[in-house]
Amino acid sequence: MRILFIGDIFGRPGRNIVRNHLKQLVAQHSVDLTIANGENSAAGFGITGPLAEELFDLGIEVITTGNHIWDKREILDYFEMAGGNPHSPARRVLRPGNFPPKMPGWGLYEGTTKAGVPYAVMNLQGRVFMSSNDDPFRKADEMLKPVTAKIILLDFHAETTSEKMALGWYLDGRVTAVLGTHTHTPTADERVLPKGTAFQTDVGMTGPYDSVIGVKKELVIEKFLNNMPVRFEAADGDVHLCAALIDCDETTGRARSIERIMVRED
Ligand SMILES: [Fe+2]
Ligand SMILES: [Fe+2]
Repeated sequence: MRILFIGDIFGRPGRNIVRNHLKQLVAQHSVDLTIANGENSAAGFGITGPLAEELFDLGIEVITTGNHIWDKREILDYFEMAGGNPHSPARRVLRPGNFPPKMPGWGLYEGTTKAGVPYAVMNLQGRVFMSSNDDPFRKADEMLKPVTAKIILLDFHAETTSEKMALGWYLDGRVTAVLGTHTHTPTADERVLPKGTAFQTDVGMTGPYDSVIGVKKELVIEKFLNNMPVRFEAADGDVHLCAALIDCDETTGRARSIERIMVRED
């Protein structure tokens, strides 16, 4: 079984490159399940219900997020819509599961692929150089307990390479993949850990690389130079699609291989 995980989709340029290339990637690599981080899909900041459904229409089955989840308040209404209905599309938009208890949204989705294979997607956020949420290590243990699917993919949305690598090792053999997001910079360290968990510190951004992590570079340079408030705007040049392709055994959930994918817009 093959899973394609697309890194942080940033604004319209990110959505467009997914629209232009996803079908071909899925066909070329015989992908059975497509997941993406969508926390930046609304002009770089947050996601709304209509944007989530636009991504679902492109063939993405589950959307993970991170610290930008609340940037567009409309997402609260979208989560509200899901209510107790586990089949609502809104239920397939995740936010980190280690946010304070009783916040809207969910950090875990359990579904079945078109071929009938059960799978689970988890979303957690790091705590180093980020807001102090619950411990993602113990939360991962807790979230994994009721999961019966063998295929389990975790998007670990975190800042530091060390926290991400540590969680990868901590979960080795218990999940199919631990994939990092949030830094918007793909790392060249993809590998399958000894007990069968595919790992990559950061999958990288799907969006404009003529930028500083998606934002117009002049604005970010100005912010660093003057330390005054600057209104960030999404950039639009040099767009790449960054993803990880995982091949795994659907009966054991163990990964066989992980491959870095980068598609550049012509
Ligand atoms: Fe992001
Ligand atoms: Fe983030």
